[in-house]
Amino acid sequence: MADIAVLGHGVVGSGVLEVMLTHRESITRRAKEEIHVKHILDLREFPELSYAASFTKDFQVILQDPEVKIVVECMGGLEPAYTFVKQCLSNGKSVVTSNKELVAAKGAKLLALAQRNNLNFLFEASVGGGIPIIRPISQCLAANEVGEIAGILNGTTNFILTKMIREHMEFGEALALAQQLGYAERDPSADVEGADACRKICILASLAFGTHVYPEDVHTEGITRITLEDVAYADAWGGVIKLIGQVKMLESGKITIMVAPMFISRESQLANVDDVFNGILVRGDATGDVVFYGKGAGKLPTASAVVADVIDCVKHFKARKYLFWEDAKPGYVEPFGSVLDAFFVHIKGESSSDAVFAQAEEKFPGAARIIRKDEMPGEAGFSVSGITENDLQAALSELAASGISVLNRVKISDF
Ligand code: HSE
Repeated sequence: MADIAVLGHGVVGSGVLEVMLTHRESITRRAKEEIHVKHILDLREFPELSYAASFTKDFQVILQDPEVKIVVECMGGLEPAYTFVKQCLSNGKSVVTSNKELVAAKGAKLLALAQRNNLNFLFEASVGGGIPIIRPISQCLAANEVGEIAGILNGTTNFILTKMIREHMEFGEALALAQQLGYAERDPSADVEGADACRKICILASLAFGTHVYPEDVHTEGITRITLEDVAYADAWGGVIKLIGQVKMLESGKITIMVAPMFISRESQLANVDDVFNGILVRGDATGDVVFYGKGAGKLPTASAVVADVIDCVKHFKARKYLFWEDAKPGYVEPFGSVLDAFFVHIKGESSSDAVFAQAEEKFPGAARIIRKDEMPGEAGFSVSGITENDLQAALSELAASGISVLNRVKISDF
């Protein structure tokens, strides 16, 4: 029998208990021994539950129990999760976590600590919930050189954008609906401002290239400035707007990494990933594009990934599974502003749309006009390519100085 402990009985933690109880027999068969949840750490009380006697409010009970060999961390947030996980790994306990904040911020340190102590630190549920993505990148695609990963990594924002695209709902209304349906938190800032997707693309980049990339090194834009007009221009261009986390390995050995709303072509594999679903495209040199699709959040999908890690951990008590992330050398992440890219630009002036576009064309030779349905007088949209963000902003400032309002600019993707 393998004794484990679960830290946190919130959405994911309670899901882990539910999955363990519902699938007890098949889990035992697959792990080759019975897995028993001996302790559950939570400050709240749950007297109505059949396993109420397993709760403790004292982490030391778990840390000091020599029978507990695996601790499942489902608390979320950086602290006290980081302190608890460090203590577990320093005291002979392997750790399974669903905590993306923790892995994105401390992954390299915790992987190294696990390795030093001959333990496992597994985090399949930290990106993409129930979508298998950590193992596929680190094991199944290991014979490839992965050159690029691009993904729709946040269900809340994908739901909001889908409502804007399909039902022409304003951003605020779509966000309120997402909250009403329980898809968005009461404080949705980490979702709509891109921080959640940023943590996930950092984890994927660290896995794919073996160098830990931290969220603070990544250019992050959310979707709060996306309007229905931008959505209509994307449609006229031949695509949709999605919030994308993207990392690319450059020939120089540096990477570009960002989270940003992007125009993506209707032909793209990610264009039809809608509602709360996530989609992740991994470009390998031998495989070409491999796409993963499914529910990126939610109690049972996430819990299923956690329990799969626990089973793996039990099966590998004697054979550890090592991942190692180096710390990045200075300059490893190419600054967003200096990378050649393509952009959609939305402007408005006092004269006709044709005259406004002609003014813009002087600053952006080769700009391709995009005309949306119901375009307003003086409004113009166009795409430019082969330009850096820094040069784009400089030219847009000059345009603004000549009386043209710059309403938005959105990156155009190349996948
Ligand atoms: N709020 C997140 C999302 C949950 O919408 O995808 C999973 O990280």
